[in-house]
Amino acid sequence: MQFFIDTADIAAIKELNETGLIDGVTTNPSLIAKSGRNFLEVIGEICAVVKGPVSAEVAATDVDGMIKEGKRLHLIANNVVVKLPLTWDGLKACRALTAENIKVNVTLCFSASQAILAAKAGATYVSPFVGRLDDIGVDGMDLIQDICTIYKNYSDFKTKILVASIRNPVHLVRAALMGAHVATIPPNVAKQLVNHPLTDKGVETFIKDWQSTGQKIL
Ligand code: G3P
Repeated sequence: MQFFIDTADIAAIKELNETGLIDGVTTNPSLIAKSGRNFLEVIGEICAVVKGPVSAEVAATDVDGMIKEGKRLHLIANNVVVKLPLTWDGLKACRALTAENIKVNVTLCFSASQAILAAKAGATYVSPFVGRLDDIGVDGMDLIQDICTIYKNYSDFKTKILVASIRNPVHLVRAALMGAHVATIPPNVAKQLVNHPLTDKGVETFIKDWQSTGQKIL
């Protein structure tokens, strides 16, 4: 399973990238606004830090505008993945950019039928949003299960399932149990993944007992 970080905060990306466990980054217009940074500059900086896929989202909503913006974003760095909304125009732009070997992440996926269309349009990634479905009283993880099952039924579907809108470690673990290819994780959730009180307690006890032996390894 690949781990992407869902943020445009360059300091947070650098910190988490030092773990060596980060495979890519996703951003969206809200995260860019939150960063307070220039969009093109911040995407360039992220691409210089993380060599894996970095999703950058278009602002246009019409097919021609999306294709033009997608090509501009792709010029920033080879690892830029163009993020397009799951609309008919987005799907048309996805086909056009994919035909030019530009990778696309089709975002704002909230149904299995949308995920089927993303795969048929040749998207490199589809991003189903689990947290936002939970927010309206629908179990977002049921959608991930459905997409995993559907994609496994068709060997010609090459699109990777990129689970987005992850709000807690349980979302990540459930996505892994289902076999989703990628999880994009906000920095606060990424930091929670390692935490367990029994690990902290165990380390504390082992240090105390080791010190009582009076030995040294080096
Ligand atoms: O990048 C898309 C997605 O992960 C957004 O998450 O928490 O705003 O629903 P959220």
